[in-house]
Amino acid sequence: MTDAEIRHWRAEFPILETCTYLVSHSLGAMPRKAAVYLQEFADMWSTRGVRAWHEGWWEAGRETGNLLAPILGVQTNTISMHQNVTVAQGIIASCFTYQGPRRKIVMSELEFPSNHYLFEGFRRYGAEIVYVPSADQIRLDLQRFLDAIDDRTVLVPLSLVLFKSASITDVRAVVEKAHRVGAHVIVDAYQGAGAVPMDLESWQADFAVGGSVKWLCGGPGVGYLYVRPDLAATLEPGLIGWAAHAAPFEFAGGAPRYAGAPERFQSGTPNVPSLYSAKAGYEIVAAIGVPAIRDRSLRLTRRIIDAAQAAGYRLNTPTSDAERGGSVVLDVPDGASIAYELIRRGVIVDFRPGAGIRMAPHFYNTEAEIDHAMTTLAEIVGSSA
Ligand SMILES: Cc1ncc(COP(=O)(O)O)c(C=O)c1O
Repeated sequence: MTDAEIRHWRAEFPILETCTYLVSHSLGAMPRKAAVYLQEFADMWSTRGVRAWHEGWWEAGRETGNLLAPILGVQTNTISMHQNVTVAQGIIASCFTYQGPRRKIVMSELEFPSNHYLFEGFRRYGAEIVYVPSADQIRLDLQRFLDAIDDRTVLVPLSLVLFKSASITDVRAVVEKAHRVGAHVIVDAYQGAGAVPMDLESWQADFAVGGSVKWLCGGPGVGYLYVRPDLAATLEPGLIGWAAHAAPFEFAGGAPRYAGAPERFQSGTPNVPSLYSAKAGYEIVAAIGVPAIRDRSLRLTRRIIDAAQAAGYRLNTPTSDAERGGSVVLDVPDGASIAYELIRRGVIVDFRPGAGIRMAPHFYNTEAEIDHAMTTLAEIVGSSA
């Protein structure tokens, strides 16, 4: 990206004028246009009332999913939209049974807690949960992980980028092993989508889930669910609602007649206002292109790493570019209160117990902001030593 492009995009994100915003792994900055789209939604509701369902609202999920398709590297009409990752994974989990010999769900101990909590709930239906430990608490222990996947495994939920360390996992290797033994892989793309190029289709991922609040700058309320097209046609999710029916407006009772993909994975009434607000961020990410964002991200995270190493801070993020997602995790003594002080001084970051201070530059951040953040951090660490 050129300096002019960066200036152009910065102007689209009002919060950047007020602070040093380095927390896009948690909540990406709001694009100015999100407010325009939300106003459009309100105007539709106010002027068209119930007619709005047939004038755009009913199709909003499919259209928003299609905006995401190139970002995830999948075909159009393969993505359904949901409230969040938990709901999307719940729908996937409801496609399978857990009583027969194939009942194991294999996950890393480093997965985001929602993923653990959701699948823990499936123990009551017979699922066996296997947590694969990580020796360094930063990376997936790949061989150990692959060895845990066997012909008793039904599902393998796996984050593309681990939330605590920003370590990138080897999705291809996991899919290859899972398919060899008849298991399915769910890629949690949340910490990657919009920051790390993705080619889910050529990786042959069975499912992918994620949400909008982070690198996609789409705000809360929208998660996505991708299902491999050939698989989608064969699955009958249990956790569905009327929007998954082939003819929802017939309001037929009894067993559902499933719609084709992606609607057959829908639950009930779509979350229309969030679909409107989310698309502003998706459009910007798609317009810039993830490879250009990744290029910029690697430069900015490298700058943080160089400053951190010069200052002697411990890094809980892989330092090699190929292994690192969009954030850097710095482990400094008393990290929680140092993060709090950074935020008080207008450098917005976050802190995760057992990991450290997470800093996440996005395409709209500048080198000067990184330098300001690292100088401020050094001042705080110095004064608290
Ligand atoms: C990898 C990953 N998965 C899932 C989530 C959140 O899931 P949900 O959309 O259910 O809140 C996060 C949020 O921080 C995350 O980092």
